[in-house]
Amino acid sequence: MEQFFASSPRGLESLLAAELGSFGAQRVAEVPGGVAFSGDWSVCYTANLWSRLASRILWRVAEFGYAGEDDLYEAAHKLDWMRLFTVERTLRVNVSAQKSPLKSLDFATLRIKDAVCDRFRETLGSRPNVDRANPDVRVHAFLDAVHCVLYLDTSGEPLFKRGWRAGAGEAPLRENLAAGIILLSGWKPEEPLLDPMCGGGTLLIEAAAMARGRAPGARRSFGFEKLKIFDPKLWAGIKNEERVPAAAKLEIFGSDNDPRVLGDARRNIAGAGVDRWIKLEQVDILERAAPAPAGVMVANPPYGERIGSKEELAEFYPRLGSALKKNYPGWRCHFFTADLRLPKLMRLQPSRRVPLYNGALECRLFEIRIVAGSNRPG
Ligand SMILES: C[S@@+](CC[C@H](N)C(=O)[O-])C[C@H]1O[C@@H](n2cnc3c(N)ncnc32)[C@H](O)[C@@H]1O
Repeated sequence: MEQFFASSPRGLESLLAAELGSFGAQRVAEVPGGVAFSGDWSVCYTANLWSRLASRILWRVAEFGYAGEDDLYEAAHKLDWMRLFTVERTLRVNVSAQKSPLKSLDFATLRIKDAVCDRFRETLGSRPNVDRANPDVRVHAFLDAVHCVLYLDTSGEPLFKRGWRAGAGEAPLRENLAAGIILLSGWKPEEPLLDPMCGGGTLLIEAAAMARGRAPGARRSFGFEKLKIFDPKLWAGIKNEERVPAAAKLEIFGSDNDPRVLGDARRNIAGAGVDRWIKLEQVDILERAAPAPAGVMVANPPYGERIGSKEELAEFYPRLGSALKKNYPGWRCHFFTADLRLPKLMRLQPSRRVPLYNGALECRLFEIRIVAGSNRPG
């Protein structure tokens, strides 16, 4: 049994813990920003291939106490790195810290990197090269006030990079955050789904991939394939396994008022191989008729951080509220935003507000149920 840590956007930890449990993870423990778990390599491979919510799956290889950089060097130097990867692999070390007494994390990073390379050179006469941009092997060190935990990254590129994105659109959501928003909305594939401000189409693609039972990692490679523990036979078995039955009927609709981002959405949707299931249209949300009598709306409106000024949005939201009341009775709408004024400015009462983080930015997922007859004047 090995020990792992799956990182994720903050706010999705419970969903991630449940997801990992469904892959056979044991001793699952949530902490802010991720989930620690135990499991064998099949659990690790499955989590990399199938997790829609994790950013990375890290394999815990050492833990020790430290007070200064020399302690990091000595403990890292003790580890038998040659058992973990070969000298031909390129390397990158990352250090993150909470309440660490160390003055420079760059220096700590350098000391750990030196320890790994020195250990290789002393044992084999040669050392791995560093490649910061595209390393084969990533070592992550997490420091608290007194402990250091060393991990090897089994994911490589972060897992939200699914391998289908061709165009960014405007301020695209990370794919694992988008998948979390879809799960939190409670959407069932039998229900029509609409993102009327779809940008590059991230929410639409994650929903379609989920409903069709597509493995999010099917089009990419993983860090564990470069490690010595890699077991190609076990991996081939896991890759060929079908885990989720595909929904037969799907009605997914996307629109945006910007023709340029719709071009990105079209390319992304085709790249993800879900174009059969998604209907795109160029239309302003304020003018858009509901594509079905009832359904689930998910949207990530501009929130004045990267696009749209606060004043423009204060003018836009009341009009959006009126358009929803007029055109979307019977719909369950979900807005993911960092603009916490949104429901008030829309003059609609949210039935749920879920705190979620987009990187460091505190956001909410507001659920607003539009009931028939709520479009009363006044
Ligand atoms: C934050 S982005 C959405 C990003 C998207 N979730 C993604 O992952 O790519 C907001 C989108 O709302 C669109 N938008 C802004 N005002 C709109 C309106 N009145 N009607 C339709 N779309 C609008 C913008 O063109 C932009 O693509």
